Amino acid sequence: MDVQREIKALRGGESVQWPHHADTVAFAESLDADNTLVNLRDEFVIPSKADLKRGNVVGEETRAQDDTSASIYFCGNSLGLRPKATSRYLSDYLQTWSTIAVGGHFTQLENSSLGPFQDMAADCSKNSADLFGALPEEIVIMNTLTVNLHLMMAAFYRPTEKKHKIMLEWRPFPSDWYAVESQIEWHGRIAKDSMLPVQPDEGTYTMSTSHIVSLIDKHADELALILLPGIQYYSGQLLDIQTITQHAHARGITIGWDLAHAAGNVELKLHDWDVDFACWCTYKYMNAGAGAIAGAFIHEKHGDVVQNRGLKGWYGGDKSARFLMDNSQSSRHVRHRVQLTTSAEFVPTPGAQGFQLSNPSAVDLTCLSATLSVFNKTSIRALRSKSLLLTAYAEYLLKQMLDRTPDAFEIITPADPLQRGAQLSVLLREGLLDPVSTALVDAGVVCDKRKPGIIRVAPAPLYNTFSDVWHFMEIFEQAVRPSQKEPRAQMGYAAQL
Ligand SMILES: Cc1ncc(COP(=O)(O)O)c(C=O)c1O
Repeated sequence: MDVQREIKALRGGESVQWPHHADTVAFAESLDADNTLVNLRDEFVIPSKADLKRGNVVGEETRAQDDTSASIYFCGNSLGLRPKATSRYLSDYLQTWSTIAVGGHFTQLENSSLGPFQDMAADCSKNSADLFGALPEEIVIMNTLTVNLHLMMAAFYRPTEKKHKIMLEWRPFPSDWYAVESQIEWHGRIAKDSMLPVQPDEGTYTMSTSHIVSLIDKHADELALILLPGIQYYSGQLLDIQTITQHAHARGITIGWDLAHAAGNVELKLHDWDVDFACWCTYKYMNAGAGAIAGAFIHEKHGDVVQNRGLKGWYGGDKSARFLMDNSQSSRHVRHRVQLTTSAEFVPTPGAQGFQLSNPSAVDLTCLSATLSVFNKTSIRALRSKSLLLTAYAEYLLKQMLDRTPDAFEIITPADPLQRGAQLSVLLREGLLDPVSTALVDAGVVCDKRKPGIIRVAPAPLYNTFSDVWHFMEIFEQAVRPSQKEPRAQMGYAAQL
């Protein structure tokens, strides 16, 4: 198979012409060996099957000696795996703290992987810029996702009597719903009167662009803000951010995007698409660790928003004046007495950095710096190319399985490769979720389950392989048809074993 030609087809929205032997493990292994595809698996710590069952913390050497058979980890959409670089980066941070303590704010020790603590957030912005298609000064690394959604809405949601609605998706992640609800209430309004959820298209789990834009048209006079997901966490649908943003602007509406499931997963061009703002977490496809520090994008055209409407904190203030602690015009003229003053003059850092409030956690920034160093070994375009093929392969094998077990499940993620990222959401026949979950856990497969019947299969191109996909399918097929004792030879690709 000409891998690059097939990737081109996927990039054009077409499907792959898989060869007749595509359902063999040998074929999966041949794709893993293809050096035109990114392979950074060695940069990650992959838990072994034995690791997953451990009840105690053990050192890395012990783990490696114990059981080298790797688990199949398809849960990068929830918590990405740990880059090996994270240990070295954390150790450099701890050594810097041990060696020069407060001096670490401004001094970089020789041979440290990290810059001075004070520069780390801006360094992470710079190193994230390509992932988001943004200028470095349009990205700020701070807080966590829900907090940043609130901060962005505090700046960009300005309801009036007539224009007070926020458009959001039918089934947002609960935190987004709560954030929107509470922002509306904070403005003294009744949430249900000001929330406009986009329902999925009839009989589907997805929201078509035409449906969204017609809803924007219908409610343009009432909409103060649109907040949509780049990738919908439940269905895995990738929305057409560019078209929807353009349409919102044509109707004079500000639009922000929750990119939790898109960050590090798909190519984004936030600057060129003229997105007003976006927020993301870094613990999913970005692999910065559980609850790690988040990011936000604010288009350069809104560089003055923090000055006019944003919330202020000392870290959003101009860096050169940050440590002068000079928030008083008069204090410098007053000696030998305590000055209580409120005459603060806030000079924001231009651009997104002006939205910072507090001194960010250096440990958090260290973990993010480590994972960004791995991303910087490749490009998001190369990663997406592999991801398109990896997910198309998973879809192909699932569809083959459906020929053998027609009613076992349904893939609710769009079949169009341009309308999805790495994740495929598989809706299981009623009653199958619990037995399938148990079977997957027993076989050392990690993927995410959502009641009542969804499993989210998300092969991450940084560390997952085509062989992972192949082996997953074998285990999954056994799990969806547990009562049938067919010999292996009659189970399709399993027959190739
Ligand atoms: C789409 C989406 N929004 C919001 C959140 C909440 O993120 P946090 O707990 O980091 O604020 C998540 C977490 O997984 C998410 O997936």
